[in-house]
Amino acid sequence: MSDGIAKGHDQHTEQSNHKKEMSRRQFLTYTLGATGGFLAAGITIPMIRFAVDPLLEKGEATDFVKVTEVSKLTTTPIEIRFQVNQVDGWVESNPELIAWLRKDEAGNVTALSPVCKHLGCTVNFVSTDNKYECPCHGAQYTNEGKNLKVAPLPLDEYSVKVDNGSVYLGQIIPNHLTSK
Ligand code: FES
Repeated sequence: MSDGIAKGHDQHTEQSNHKKEMSRRQFLTYTLGATGGFLAAGITIPMIRFAVDPLLEKGEATDFVKVTEVSKLTTTPIEIRFQVNQVDGWVESNPELIAWLRKDEAGNVTALSPVCKHLGCTVNFVSTDNKYECPCHGAQYTNEGKNLKVAPLPLDEYSVKVDNGSVYLGQIIPNHLTSK
């Protein structure tokens, strides 16, 4: 009889030890898991931030670039090609841009973008017609960039700075010459 009681007691103790052992194991699993997760997050979050950071920053605005001298300009537009330094995310490049520059009747320097406002072809100035013409679908613009046909909008402009006889071009902006 007392043997039976002792056996029952032993079984109970074994089960409770087993439960304790399981909960200890679980405790260790959770603790190690949490510590591992914490360490991994500590390492990976700065790495992700480092990798993604350039994408969060907007492409650097192009600074003003010296393109020519005022003395070389007349009222007839001339084509000027120049390079700008662009940083966009991880990519740094030096694309070549085109601008059509002229001095207006009051002597102000203006610079137009050659990108046609119809579908983006490159326009040319035709001096015999005193107009910009697009070879793709026949859009035409005045020498101030005003859209005459096909294109829905005037040609964009570059921001212009004149300093000490030199002409500097900056960002492309919507045309304000045609609204004067
Ligand atoms: S892209 Fe210039 S007219 Fe169509």
